[in-house]
Amino acid sequence: MPVLDLSIDEVLTTTRAVRKRLDLTRPVEPEVIRECLEIALQAPSPGSMQHWHFIVVTDPAKREALAAVYRKSAHSPGGQEDILKQMIATAANEQEAAALAKKMESPRYLTAHLHEVPVLIVPCIEGRVEKFTAVEQASHWGGIWPAAWSFMLAARSRGLGTVLTTLHLDFEREAAEILGIPYDQVTQAGLIPVAYTLGTDFKPAARKPLESVLHWDRW
Ligand SMILES: Cc1cc2nc3c(=O)[nH]c(=O)nc-3n(C[C@H](O)[C@H](O)[C@H](O)COP(=O)(O)O)c2cc1C
Repeated sequence: MPVLDLSIDEVLTTTRAVRKRLDLTRPVEPEVIRECLEIALQAPSPGSMQHWHFIVVTDPAKREALAAVYRKSAHSPGGQEDILKQMIATAANEQEAAALAKKMESPRYLTAHLHEVPVLIVPCIEGRVEKFTAVEQASHWGGIWPAAWSFMLAARSRGLGTVLTTLHLDFEREAAEILGIPYDQVTQAGLIPVAYTLGTDFKPAARKPLESVLHWDRW
């Protein structure tokens, strides 16, 4: 049952990417994870095929191994660290560079502490996307993201924080080996760290104004 007294709109607008405010010391009950996943299963999927799978990882050795894969990706060429350095190098001025560095503190924190997050969830979808047509690709990814997001919303309403990540997919095969996923038949969509949040007050984030992205009747 939801424990926070939030309206649907509040849940939808305050489910943030939580990293520094994940409580790394408080255990998460398996029941609450199951409850959120039951809700996730109500999400749409193409033809209601429900080709989704969710791997809940709580084993400390497996979390450490997955976190190592994530860290490797963050520090590999073209990874999180390279992108940050490039952004800072091309910043218009020192102020902008400092702001970018500050913005990256949160992702960097997650990279450093991922192994400490009590629950890691790997949403998966049957099939491999590489050789699909555009329609097939849309169906493939669309068969997992609504459910993953529903899980995250259900988690938020229960005082849990999450963040959708994809960084480890640079080394998806290694993660598949750690978790025993049949790589040739199943695609990992990402990795969602889950923990209770430190405080429960989260605000809507700054976004591009609607007018800059809204196209009515034509582009
Ligand atoms: C498809 C996708 C992939 C993402 N991958 C990562 C990731 O690998 N690591 C990470 O720390 N955050 C990741 N994020 C989270 C975004 O960085 C986050 O949504 C963004 O910082 C905005 O935060 P907000 O949603 O709280 O406004 C990802 C988000 C999406 C939608």
